[in-house]
Amino acid sequence: MKHFTVTFIPDNIQVQVTAGTTVLEAAQKAGLPLKSTCGGAGTCGRCIIKVRRGEVQVKGGHLPAKLKEEGYTLACQTIIQGDVAIEIPAESLLSKHQVLLQDKGRLQDGLTDLLGSYPLEAACEVVTLHLAEPTLTENTSDTSRLLTALRKEKGVEGQVSLALLQDLPESLRQAGWQVDVTLARADNRLLRVTPAGSGRNFGLAIDLGTTTVVVSLLDLRNGRRIGQGGSYNRQAVYGDDVISRIIHATSNHGGLEELRQAALATINEISNSLLANHGINQAEVTAAVIAGNTTMSHLLLGVNPKYIRLQPYIPAATEWPALTAGEIGLAINPLATVQVFPSVASYVGGDIVAGALFTRIAGGEELTLFIDIGTNGEMVLGNKDWLISCACSAGPAFEGSGITCGMRAMEGAVEGVTIDPETFEVELEVIGGGRPAGLCGSGLIDCLAKLRRAGIIDRTGNFHEVATPRLRLTDEGYEFVLAWAAESSHGKDIVITAADIKNLIRSKGAVFAGIQSLLKTVSLELEAVDRIIIAGGFGNYLHVPNAVEIGLLPDLPAEKYVFAGNTSLKGAELALLSRPAWQEALELGHKMTYLELSAGNLFMEEFVSALFLPHTQLELFPSVTGGTSPQRREG
Ligand code: FES
Repeated sequence: MKHFTVTFIPDNIQVQVTAGTTVLEAAQKAGLPLKSTCGGAGTCGRCIIKVRRGEVQVKGGHLPAKLKEEGYTLACQTIIQGDVAIEIPAESLLSKHQVLLQDKGRLQDGLTDLLGSYPLEAACEVVTLHLAEPTLTENTSDTSRLLTALRKEKGVEGQVSLALLQDLPESLRQAGWQVDVTLARADNRLLRVTPAGSGRNFGLAIDLGTTTVVVSLLDLRNGRRIGQGGSYNRQAVYGDDVISRIIHATSNHGGLEELRQAALATINEISNSLLANHGINQAEVTAAVIAGNTTMSHLLLGVNPKYIRLQPYIPAATEWPALTAGEIGLAINPLATVQVFPSVASYVGGDIVAGALFTRIAGGEELTLFIDIGTNGEMVLGNKDWLISCACSAGPAFEGSGITCGMRAMEGAVEGVTIDPETFEVELEVIGGGRPAGLCGSGLIDCLAKLRRAGIIDRTGNFHEVATPRLRLTDEGYEFVLAWAAESSHGKDIVITAADIKNLIRSKGAVFAGIQSLLKTVSLELEAVDRIIIAGGFGNYLHVPNAVEIGLLPDLPAEKYVFAGNTSLKGAELALLSRPAWQEALELGHKMTYLELSAGNLFMEEFVSALFLPHTQLELFPSVTGGTSPQRREG
């Protein structure tokens, strides 16, 4: 078979491919992950590239005429037929290390506060043992010498594995028979034997998100957080949402393994760089806790996810057996214990259980609504007596995906928008303070609210013909320019289009309909909710009054709202540091009832009513429609 060389500019990275390979596949091979929301179907228009030289065949796909004229094509639709040079514009690349780690969640996240009423009792502990040196008369085996000491000194019946035995004779002698032993608390498995005094002990809390992966490195001896790292989930090249990844995993030969490897590579790359930065060996990391949605857990563990997306939506498992890092492929001590958070159902997963654990939904009498405003739109309602959950499939719009100039909350993302109702002039708040590159979730919510308030769009989201050069008609319909090319970081206009607005309205409608469906199912009114906890990748803040104004969130007093940031990661940290917290997580998984929104008409009816700004039933939003300024709710 013929081989061709593909050179990617501007980085000058080269790969060899066979004839018939698409540029998207070649970029994947070169470790240059391109945005590909549709997973290569040619419909999302995200994988834009330019062929600089060489022979290709372009199939088609959905690309605006303007970009075609400028010589751009879609990587997934461009087939390599010779040696080629391909230019990848920066905005087509999934950037690697730009995940915003610091959220300003208003729930405390210092680890001492995090532990709160839970004891510090990590998954693994280090115990020091003093062994007697063997003699001709006291000549038991190394293993029984070690286990006897453990029994005598700590009252523990230890378990040894073959991997530990293989090095044991040298480890004991080099340590002069004075050793630190790292033990898994759950089953007293021996994980490490090192000279006494050297037994450092670390753990990883991993939030395996559909879009981003964040890893926290913790010292298990004192519960201190040593560092955090984050990156895009490399699975994104196979599609933006869980459905397209399940399809890839189950319809392509080897697809599941590709996705498993992509998730692993993401986690391992982040943790390796964390360990290197802090001078820690892989062998010293003896525990990991992973929180991800049901599909992510299946894919990471290489478990067939096929029936998650087929009626009646059945996952292979909601609870996972005790695992070791070696059997999964995590690049830490191969004997390390790995706990994967339990799921509730196909679309309410371990990340939500972790969030429920951290936010103590089941801790008291007060009625709490916990919402993760992300692609899957999971939410939980309840208190210490009962919990009900659902997933409203909000789509990735509030995570910046599927929106023309949408992006994740990272440097350059617009997170706040002001529009003058007289002049229609725009002011933007940009994360990091530099030039804008696009809009993240909070910016999109603000933008929608302000377009409506300035009378630029009507209640259905259609544009009014207001007199400003910012509003213009293109082949695709109307669009509003938020920043001109000269003001943006990439030299292109930043716009919001009519299609983007419809997309956002569908997403916000789904979230609100999910909330209403949960409440109606348990026959409660919105007013009964004491506390609303918002989780999600919004960057530094979510402007609650604007979210209420567009009808995304219920019209309740601002005091009831708490923005909690990445609760999945914080729940994983808590479970890693405290076994009683982990026990509670297992119970939470059992306790949550799952409401299947696709069964019955309730959700659909609520959804249709919510496709207006803010809603068809204006009485649900008195502060928005009744002349009270929504500003009063700020707090
Ligand atoms: S258009 Fe190429 S990946 Fe979506």
